[in-house]
Amino acid sequence: MIRVEHVSHWFGPLHVLRDVSFTVPAGEIFGFIGPNGAGKTTTLRMIATLLEPHDGRVLVDGIDCVDEPARVREVLGFMPDNFGVYERVTIREYLEFFAAAHDLPRSTRARTVDAVMELTDLGELRDRLVRALSKGMKQRLAIARTLLHDPKVLVLDEPANGLDPRARIEMRDLIEELQRLGKTILLSSHILTELSDMCTSVAILEKGRLVASGDVGAIGEQLHPERGVRVRLYAPPEDALELLRAAPAVLAAERDPDGAYELTYRGGDEAIADIVAHCVARGLRVVRVEPDRNDLERIFLEVTKGELQ
Ligand SMILES: Nc1ncnc2c1ncn2[C@@H]1O[C@H](COP(=O)(O)OP(=O)(O)O)[C@@H](O)[C@H]1O
Ligand SMILES: [Mg+2]
Repeated sequence: MIRVEHVSHWFGPLHVLRDVSFTVPAGEIFGFIGPNGAGKTTTLRMIATLLEPHDGRVLVDGIDCVDEPARVREVLGFMPDNFGVYERVTIREYLEFFAAAHDLPRSTRARTVDAVMELTDLGELRDRLVRALSKGMKQRLAIARTLLHDPKVLVLDEPANGLDPRARIEMRDLIEELQRLGKTILLSSHILTELSDMCTSVAILEKGRLVASGDVGAIGEQLHPERGVRVRLYAPPEDALELLRAAPAVLAAERDPDGAYELTYRGGDEAIADIVAHCVARGLRVVRVEPDRNDLERIFLEVTKGELQ
């Protein structure tokens, strides 16, 4: 849905993006991660047709951002990192203004604004002045604004920045709801943990270079050929540990004080399936299998080798 192909960019002598390529498949929540100054905003502005790459190209829904920016804007909603909001209007007035700016037909404008307020949980606050909103509400209002023309693709620059934990959970729920509605969502963050429970795929940018991109599990697998899985057995026999150690792909096994078995194995999901089959074939009664999450945190630390905070 979004393709960034060999993009480079300079600000004067400063080479801010170096041959950056990644693809955001349709329907994903895709995280664009990197420390401040890495070049995230610059990249997102190119996708949003606000900046032209000096080299390479950017496509949204197959449309070239430089050749046909107006068509790209029809399918794309962009929330910049420091969006300005008019403070002295109500939420409803604010959204109606932008609905008009988007040239939505007068007859459907009110309905669209209602629907968007409903979706972003701002309906109850419709008559509240924008200046009286909390940071989390303002952030939701900014997202509401990007939804007015019902874009397929949402590009959100640091949507969770500065939110307290509760507002962040609400933000995550909203983003997941938007995904269920069929939107493709690209969001950036300089704080890894803001994204780790939301994204299915990521691209990690550091000093203008892409250091990793793709499915979170796949990146994890590449970087961690050895992984862990917890197996809980019903009434384990005395030789359970030996049987587990003999399972395919298993490198080591220990019994936890709480009775579960911690296995270290090499491989991906198929290895786990083989381990379970091995257990069942030997009469071990498997109650629960919990693979370690290859979470973003570990991937991030691995890929950036401690250069980032
Ligand atoms: N308009 C600009 N003019 C000059 N330098 C800029 C401009 N915008 C960004 N930069 C520089 O480009 C680099 C990348 O910035 P940016 O894309 O905002 O990074 P991020 O969003 O990852 O924090 C930074 O070193 C920043 O100072
Ligand atoms: Mg930025």
